[in-house]
Parts: sequence; C-alpha cells; structure tokens
Amino acid sequence: MSSRREIGRCSDSAPAADRRAIDDPARLLVPCNVTSKISEMSRLRVADDITQLVGETPLLKLKRLVPAGSADVFAKLEYLNPGGSVKDRAAIGIIRRAEQDGKLAPGGTIVEATAGNTGIGLALIGVNRGYKVKLFVPERFSEEKVKIMRALGAEVSRTPDVEGMQGAIRQAKALVASDPTAFMAGQFENPANPAYHYETTAREIFEQMDGKIDAVVLGCGTSGTFSGVARFLKEKSPRVLAYAVETQGSAQGGRHRRELYPENFRSLSVR
Ligand SMILES: Cc1ncc(COP(=O)(O)O)c(C=O)c1O
Repeated sequence: MSSRREIGRCSDSAPAADRRAIDDPARLLVPCNVTSKISEMSRLRVADDITQLVGETPLLKLKRLVPAGSADVFAKLEYLNPGGSVKDRAAIGIIRRAEQDGKLAPGGTIVEATAGNTGIGLALIGVNRGYKVKLFVPERFSEEKVKIMRALGAEVSRTPDVEGMQGAIRQAKALVASDPTAFMAGQFENPANPAYHYETTAREIFEQMDGKIDAVVLGCGTSGTFSGVARFLKEKSPRVLAYAVETQGSAQGGRHRRELYPENFRSLSVR
C-alpha cells in the first residue's frame, strides 16, 4: 500500500549558517518542500542491473510555465531514465516480449531503424542482456546520439538522408532476412511497444495523480507511448482527453495511433 508523506525539506540537511540563508523569506522564491508518495516498505533503490532503473520517474508540477488560473499541469520526467528518454521503456518491453515469444535467443542480434533514443535504449538494455545490437540511423539525425549508441556497444550504420526513415527500415529488414539469429525490434509496428507503456508509464501516471486526470498530452514518434497511456487512462475514465503532439514531418506513428480510438483522436502538429 502506498501513502503520501513528506520525505524531506531541502533546508533540513543544511548546516545552521546555510539554513538561515536558505530559509530567508526574501530568498525563498520557490518553497523547497519535497513530498512524495512512497510505500511504507520502500527503500532507496539498489539495482542489480540497469534495467531495474528504467521507469518509476517522478512528476514535476509546473509553476512558471503555466498561466495563472489554469489547470494544474505536471510533467513526467522521462529524461531521468538511464538512457535519457522514455524510449528505454519501449526497449525493455520489446526485448522482454521477444524473449518470451522465443524470437530472441542467447547470442542473438537485435536490429532496428532509429532516429536516436530508441537506439540508445536498445543498446543500453540489449547489450546489457548479452545481445548484439545493430542499428540503422539516417544521416540527418544526431551524431552525438550515435556516439552514445556505439559507446554502449551497438554497431551503427548511417543511411542516406534522401531515403528517410523508410530507407533505414528497409536496410534493417534486409539484414534480418539474411541472419536467422537476428530479431527486428520494429518499434513502429511492434505491439510490445505500446503494451509496455500501458503496463508501466500509464499506471505510474495514474497512481502518481491518484487517478485525478482531466487530460494527458504526449509527444509522439511511433505513438507507442501515446497509445499505451491513452488506452489505459481512457479505460479508467472515458472522459480523459488524450492529445498527441508530433513534430512536423514525423508521420511514422500512424499505426499504433490509428488503432486506438480513431474516432476521437486529435493531433497537434508543432515545429
Ligand atoms: C525523447 C522522446 N520522447 C518521446 C518520444 C515519442 O515516443 P513514442 O515513439 O512512444 O511515440 C520519442 C521518440 O520518438 C523520444 O525520443
């Protein structure tokens, strides 16, 4: 069972002289109370492996970004996942399901076309679990992310920009067709992607908010996050509004999204 209780105040651990300065009302623009919903039995985590550190990300109540008088707005801090993004979750969901289904066996190779963060997630989780990870990334996407994928142990091929993400997908599929030990992660089509968000991201949000949610806004690439979270929340309360936000030119998320409530799907396009 979980209960809401205060776990600390920033000033509690400061030495006396510093405490006066920190507590000075003139300097205290933002109250420094930290509250959290934690289990009576919970302890700070000690992880046996990196996969145990994915998820259970905190929510931050936004104050300065939100106009006065508007609804309370909270951001889920997915950048705190070990690979630096929400895509660590998709990587775990896809790899676990493939292992359960016998599509990925010891010594196997995980193959994927990726713009960046999924590649980092797959490299982080896949290499950790003993697999080879081969990624195809169109040239226009970040070199820094490719360096991280390689540092984590993945093999990365850059694909021509003119062919877009479809070109990277084609090359990934060709590799899988030629290697019987290879498994295509297939984040754009693989139902394990939204399923893992349904099981983890959505449940966390629902529990952190005590179920009091009017609307949820989700950034979209594959729409795995959107589909999993929106499905869970709408099952809990059909009145929850779900908004998908995608960058212009990103048309890859069609399948996961279209399969979910096409009649009340709303999309915002941003630069
Ligand atoms: C940082 C970040 N947030 C959100 C998303 C969207 O995730 P999804 O592929 O589940 O739509 C992506 C991937 O495109 C991402 O890299």
